[in-house]
Amino acid sequence: MSPLKQNAIVVSDEGTPVLKQVDIHRPGPGEVLIKVIAAGQTPSDWMIAERARLTGAVLGLDFAGVVEEVGADVPETVRHVGERVCGFVHGGTTHRGSFCEYLVASARYGIIAIPDSWSFEQAASVGCAGFTVLQNLYDTYLDLPTPLTPAAEPFSILIYGGSSSLGIYAIQIAKLSGLRVITTASKRNFELLRSYGADEVYDYNDPAVGQKIKTSTQGKLTHAMDTISEGNTGKIIADAFSDDGGLVGTALPYESIRADIRNHFTLVYHLLGKDFDFPFPYRVNPDNYELSEKYAQLLSATVALGKFKPMPTLIMPKGLASVEEGFAYMKGGKVSAQKIIYRIADTPKE
Ligand SMILES: NC(=O)c1ccc[n+]([C@@H]2O[C@H](COP(=O)([O-])OP(=O)(O)OC[C@H]3O[C@@H](n4cnc5c(N)ncnc54)[C@H](OP(=O)(O)O)[C@@H]3O)[C@@H](O)[C@H]2O)c1
Repeated sequence: MSPLKQNAIVVSDEGTPVLKQVDIHRPGPGEVLIKVIAAGQTPSDWMIAERARLTGAVLGLDFAGVVEEVGADVPETVRHVGERVCGFVHGGTTHRGSFCEYLVASARYGIIAIPDSWSFEQAASVGCAGFTVLQNLYDTYLDLPTPLTPAAEPFSILIYGGSSSLGIYAIQIAKLSGLRVITTASKRNFELLRSYGADEVYDYNDPAVGQKIKTSTQGKLTHAMDTISEGNTGKIIADAFSDDGGLVGTALPYESIRADIRNHFTLVYHLLGKDFDFPFPYRVNPDNYELSEKYAQLLSATVALGKFKPMPTLIMPKGLASVEEGFAYMKGGKVSAQKIIYRIADTPKE
C-alpha cells in the first residue's frame, strides 16, 4: 500500500512550479497507479504552468515507473502490478501530472511497457514525443509505411528540426519505415542525428538550406514533419518542396505560405481518451479510442523491434527540486538534442 501523501510539483498562483505535499489518488476504472521513478520535461510543462495557470494542478507530462496498483476492470493482459511502463499524461491541468511520486494514468492510452534494455531515465524521454510523432506522421499521411510494414521503394521525407525530442524520434520512425530521411539541425548535432538514422543533415541557419534540400531531392519532396513550426520553418519547407506541392505535419498550428502545400496539425492530448479544456476545449469521441489504441500498439511494436533508441538525457541533480532550474534552462533556449530528466529519488528529503 502506497503512502497517502506525496511530494509533487504543482502550479503556483503566479504560474511557476513549486514543490508541495499533495494527496495520492487511487486508480479508477481503466486506470493504473504508477510509482514514478523518472519524469521527463517537455516545452508544454512550463507553457501550461504560465498560460493555463491552474493553481494546484500537478505539472509534468512524461513519466517512467512501475505499476503499483491496477483499476478494478483492468485485465492482466493489459497492465499488471510490477510492470515497468512509460508514457505521458496531460500534466498541469489536473492532479494527473508526472512530476510526483505516485501518478494515476490510463492503463491503455499514452502508455507502453519499457523494454528490459532501457533505464527508467531513458524511458522517461519517450512518452509525449514518441506518441506525438506517430500521431502526426500517420494522421497526416494515411498510407505512410510503418516500421512494421516498411517501404519497398524508399522515398524522401524531411524531418524539419531533427535535434528536437520530436525530431530524434521522427527520424527513427521514418528510417525504420524504409524512408530516406533528410533533416535540419545546428552543426554540432549532425553526427548525432546520423547515428539515429538521418541520411542527410542540413544547417537550418544556412540561408540556402531550403534550396539545397530541393536540389538534393531533385525537386521531388512532398512529405515533411515540421517539429518546430515557428519562425521561418514554413518558408524553409516551402523552398525545399516540389513544385507540385505536398503535405506537411506540424507540431504547432500555422498556415502554409504556398497554396499547393497543405499543413496538418495534430495534438497529442487527443490520444489520452479524456475531455480537456487546455489549450482549447475538446470533447472526446469514439474515434479517439481507436486511434489511441492504434498508436499505443504501434509504438509498443516498434520498440519491441529493438532498433528504436532513446534520446540523450540531461539528468538534473536534485530531482523534483530542480524543476524550476529545468524550466529556466529550457526557456533560455539551452536544450539541444537532449531530454531534461528528474529522478524522483534525487529529491532532497525535508
Ligand atoms: N502538437 C503536439 O501535440 C506537440 C507535442 C509535443 C511537442 N509539441 C511542440 O513541438 C515543439 C518541439 O517540442 P520538443 O519537445 O521536440 O522540443 P525540444 O526538444 O525542446 O527542442 C529543442 C531543439 O529545437 C531545435 N530548434 C530550435 N529552433 C529551431 C529551428 N528554428 N530550426 C530547427 N531546429 C530548431 C534545437 O536544435 P539545435 O540545438 O540543433 O539548434 C534543439 O535541439 C514545441 O513547440 C512543442 O511545444 C507539440
